[in-house]
Order: sequence, then C-alpha cells, then structure tokens
Amino acid sequence: MCLHIFKEATMSRATLSGLGALAAVVAASCGGGNQDDAGQEAVLGAKGRQTALAAQGRQVFRFETFGDEAKWTDTLRMHEVIAAAVDPTTALSVGLKVDADALPQGVKNGIAKGRIDLTSPATTVALLKMDAVVGLKGTVETVAGVDRLVRVGITCALCHSTVDNSFAPGIGKRLDGWPNRDLNVGAIIALSPAVGSAEKDVLNGWGKGKYDPRHNIDGLNKPVVIPPAYGLAGIHRITFTGDGEDIAYWNRYVAVTQMGGQGSFSDPRLPLSITNGTEDLVSDKLPALQAYQLTLTAPPAPAGSFDTVAAARGKAVFDGRGQCASCHAGALFTDANSRLHPPADSVVEPETPSYAARSATRQYRTSPLKGLWQHPPYFHDGSAATAEDVAATYNAKRSLGLTPQEISDLAHYLKSL
Ligand code: HEC
Ligand code: HEC
Repeated sequence: MCLHIFKEATMSRATLSGLGALAAVVAASCGGGNQDDAGQEAVLGAKGRQTALAAQGRQVFRFETFGDEAKWTDTLRMHEVIAAAVDPTTALSVGLKVDADALPQGVKNGIAKGRIDLTSPATTVALLKMDAVVGLKGTVETVAGVDRLVRVGITCALCHSTVDNSFAPGIGKRLDGWPNRDLNVGAIIALSPAVGSAEKDVLNGWGKGKYDPRHNIDGLNKPVVIPPAYGLAGIHRITFTGDGEDIAYWNRYVAVTQMGGQGSFSDPRLPLSITNGTEDLVSDKLPALQAYQLTLTAPPAPAGSFDTVAAARGKAVFDGRGQCASCHAGALFTDANSRLHPPADSVVEPETPSYAARSATRQYRTSPLKGLWQHPPYFHDGSAATAEDVAATYNAKRSLGLTPQEISDLAHYLKSL
C-alpha cells in the first residue's frame, strides 16, 4: 500500500529529484503514524493523492534546499564557518533547533549524560550528518574515518519550524509552521567570511526572530518578524503586504531570491526578475510544498493560558467598541480575501522605510489572528511585545476610549484565538 502512494505521487508528477529524496518520501509515507489512512486514501483517489502530495511537501518543507548550496556554500562559505567554529552550544545560542527524533538513542543518552561534547564543532557536523539540525542540510563526506562538511544549504524549516523542547532547551519534536522566534538569522549570516564589515553591522542589527526578505533586493534595511506558516488555508493574500494570491507565489519568491535556490522568480510589480543557475529546481516542488502548508493549522491556545470569562467579555469589545471585526472579519479574522489596506491602516505606520512601500502591493493585509498566543511579538515590525500592548496601541492610535478593564479583556480574547 505504501508503494502505491509512492507510485501515484511520483508517476503523475516528478516532484522530487534524486534517489535519496525519493527514498525519504517512501519513508515518510510509510513510516508515519497515519500510514494506513494515507495508504487507503491513495487507492481511493483524489483525496489520497492530496495526502500523498502533502507528505512529499513535508519533505520539501523540512529538507529541500532547491540547490541553494550555491549561495550558502559556494558564496557565503558557511560550511567552513560551521566546521571551524559552530559547536552545538553556539548553534543553540543563535536559535538553531535540533530534531530529537533524528537522534539515535545512543546519542540522546550521550547528551543526557554529558558524554557528548557540545562545545566541539565536530559534534555539529555529526548532527548535520544525521539530518538533525532543523532547517540546515549538510553534505558530509567521510574519508579515512573522518567526517568533513563539504556542502551546506538551508530549508524552509530554518525560519518556519521550531521544536517543543521536550528533550532539552532547543532539542525536541519538530513543530512545522511555528515561526522560530529565537533564530538570529542576521547574526548567522554575519559569520560568513564573504560578508563585509558594513554589511555585518546591518545583519547584526536585526536581532532574533526577525529577517528582512527585501534587503538584498532594494538595499534598504528594516527587518520584519518571521511569521507563522500555519493557519493559511482559505487565505488568498499571502505576506504582511498581501503580495501573492496563494502561498506558492511567496514560496517561489523566498526559495529563489532569499534562499538562493536554483530557478526563477519574476514580478513586474516590484519590479524584479531573477534567475539562479541554469536548472529549475524550484517549480516542480511548489505544488507539494503548498499542499503541505495548507495542512498546517494554527495551534489552539493551551488551557489555562487565558482567562475564559475575561476573554468572553473581550470578544464583545472586539466585535463592538473596539471595531476590530470590521477588518479582522469572519472565521479567519481577516478581510484579506476582499481587500488590502492603505499603509495608514497599520498602527505601526508611518515607519521609515515603510515596509509596504517596498512590497508588490504597497498596502497591508489585515493579519489573520488564529494561534496569536503562540507568536509574540506582534505587528510586522514586532513592536508590540504582548497582546496587552496590541490592545493598548489600538486604543491610543484609534482613539477608542477603552477602559483599562476593556483593554485587558480584549487581550485575553486575543490570546484565546
Ligand atoms: C530566512 C528566514 C526565512 C526562510 C528560510 C523562509 N522564510 Fe518564509 N518568511 C520569512 C519572513 C521574514 C516572512 C515575512 C515576509 C512578509 O510577510 O512580508 C516570511 C513569510 C512567509 C509566508 C507568508 C505567511 C503569511 O502570513 O502570509 C509564507 C507562507 C512563508 N514565508 C513560507 C516559506 C516557505 C515555504 C519557505 C521555504 C521555501 C520559507 N518561507 C523560507 C522568513 C523566512
Ligand atoms: C482598519 C483595519 C483594522 C482594524 C479596525 C483593526 N486591525 Fe488589527 N490589523 C490590521 C492590519 C492591516 C494589520 C497588520 C499591521 C502590521 O503588521 O503592520 C493588523 C494587525 C493586527 C495584529 C497583529 C497580528 C500579528 O500576527 O502580528 C493584531 C493582534 C491585531 N491587528 C488586533 C486588532 C485588534 C484587537 C483590533 C481592534 C482594537 C484591530 N486589530 C483593529 C487591520 C486592522
């Protein structure tokens, strides 16, 4: 039955390249807890094909570099940096995460008992060899018993996955779609010997949980928070500025223009047209990637993380005097499918440079709010540290005249979504 999924998924579309990737798909389709369900659906037809496609997409999301080693290895020489100076303790301190499920029991025991040296870069190389560092894909060659890191690339999971810390801080089960707000992307890139000192200052100024996905295009500098990649089913405006109608638009943008994957992106609205390399390693993976992302739902607020009575009062403020529902409308808490908003409708504008002005639409999308509890800080610039800050900011900026009690109730409601 597992073989069925594999055939259906790959014969209709050649979505993944390389035997290793294919083997991984088979492993994913056959090894998961839902294997029987998935297998039956595959034989049953359209829904099954969607499930198989999403399983492939999970592999893409977690492990596919689209050939971006050309940037991270050939240009930025990050493999040298990692091998020389990035021990696991350092890696964890810049927010990188380790997938506990990828670690053999012996390694787990070794870490727990302090027998594995977490201050040696060789241990990082060993973790990369096991595919255990979330969002980093290393190629390790073993010559005469010695492991050498020869290539490294990044995947979507680098920024859009974290772990549940169930084994140790920074080490646990993967949580795909959850933004890694501990990750200091700027500080990591600044370690590259290929980056000049002025640019290092810019990158080191970004801070954790933020990234500027337009800086390398327009030269301006104003990072945005890494948003969740979950809860996007049914929303047909993607990104803070609603640049694309479906997720695949932005996936292609990031894969090519930010990750450095081999392929093309062009959008006359920006205007921008980029081709990396001579082969397209991006296009045929986008359908599976999008199918997987659409399965990622926003995590419900943990019981006890908000006051239910206050949240019920807060809902009345949200729908009533706060006027929030006029934009955060419907079950997805956004009017994104019907309109975008002028910059002034964002409470953090005016800002310099304006993030909207750098985008394809030059407007903002009303942010969807499901799973809000999980990903502070809020707004595209991360200027509101808590839900209380959000409520207080709206109260001041839009002169709502809410009482402190109403502001607090509204915050409890936001944390319950
Ligand atoms: C280096 C960090 C980084 C990597 C790697 C990265 N992203 Fe993102 N992603 C961001 C940032 C920052 C934004 C916010 C940009 C915006 O909305 O303008 C974003 C936005 C998004 C969004 C829009 C979410 C929404 O609310 O509409 C999606 C979807 C997404 N990324 C998916 C992906 C996928 C798929 C990949 C791999 C192909 C990927 N990202 C790789 C940092 C990253
Ligand atoms: C005029 C339309 C509009 C109204 C009214 C409005 N919002 Fe928003 N909201 C937006 C837009 C646009 C954004 C994105 C702003 C940004 O990130 O720059 C946003 C962002 C947010 C965010 C940040 C979400 C995130 O993921 O960072 C929260 C929380 C929020 N709004 C809550 C509220 C509350 C509570 C109210 C009522 C007091 C409200 N909004 C009223 C349009 C609106």
